Amino acid sequence: MSNTIETIGIIGAGQMGGGIAHVAALAGYNVLVYDISSDRIEKGIATVSGNMARQVAGGKLAEEDRKAALGRISAAHNMADLAGADLVIEAATEDETIKRKIYAQLCPLLNPEAILATNTSSISITRLAAQTDRPERFIGIHFMNPVPVMKLVELVRGIATEDKTFEAAKEFVHKLDKTTTVSEDFPAFIVNRILLPMINEAIYTLYEGVGTVEAIDTAMRLGANHPMGPLQLADFIGLDTCLSIMQVLHEGLSDSKYRPCPLLVKYVEAGWLGRKTGRGFYDYRGEHPVPTR
Ligand code: CAA
Repeated sequence: MSNTIETIGIIGAGQMGGGIAHVAALAGYNVLVYDISSDRIEKGIATVSGNMARQVAGGKLAEEDRKAALGRISAAHNMADLAGADLVIEAATEDETIKRKIYAQLCPLLNPEAILATNTSSISITRLAAQTDRPERFIGIHFMNPVPVMKLVELVRGIATEDKTFEAAKEFVHKLDKTTTVSEDFPAFIVNRILLPMINEAIYTLYEGVGTVEAIDTAMRLGANHPMGPLQLADFIGLDTCLSIMQVLHEGLSDSKYRPCPLLVKYVEAGWLGRKTGRGFYDYRGEHPVPTR
């Protein structure tokens, strides 16, 4: 088999998997999207179609390119449909047990030369790679949300990742017209190692009554020129994802400065996970987001 990557398999049709499908298809790759139900796959592809329509409306994409890109995305109803992929990117839930199960099912189906990548935002690449039959061809390719808009992708090698795998991943990301940055394989890599403690601190600031949701977000939007306030961003990322990244930092670095704020835990326990469930630090069910505290 040649080393050329032509077909991309994506596991997970959520906001990250859908975003990766979006940019890969626009860059000319054939994309196969797998998820645990056909319903999720169809919803994911419909969201990609809607996001591409936004780009057409904004003058950033021609309608014919949107149609051509959508034509390159297909649903993979069974994992076996990913057998022909040259690169599979796993963008499933940030849960190590789930990821392990996926790799156990997927690896025997893949071409032995295929590269397996994970979009994990915090879990050890070396440890995940060790669960597969191909640690040399395993790598972290970490996209940022919203994928079509954010220019950065973090590349993270596991201890066994071969140079050839790293170079192929880098070339793939550059074809998507994104910039790569390389992070060593330590908890949460670079972006989330810095971003999530800031978000967690914003939640402590709310928990301790230093400021309201609006005060905190306005302070950071206008006082630090962040495009979104930290609580707005937490809702955007998903509060379950924020909590799991803080847990990985706390456990992985054994430092109490990373302890997740109890208020973050409470929101997650309530199922108020942010935008995706309609409620988090803001309530999104009405016409405009309203702070929930
Ligand atoms: N697909 C395609 N285009 C999109 C899009 C999507 N999903 N989301 C936004 N856009 C486009 C819009 O269509 C718009 O395009 P035009 O300029 O042509 O109108 C442009 O992006 C700006 O969007 P909006 O006008 O709707 O809103 P905005 O100006 O507030 O920008 C934002 C939205 C780009 C999300 C901006 O608020 C932002 O950059 N926020 C911070 C995002 C961030 O920090 N992401 C990293 C999260 S951490 C992470 O991802 C790592 C992890 O592992 C947790």
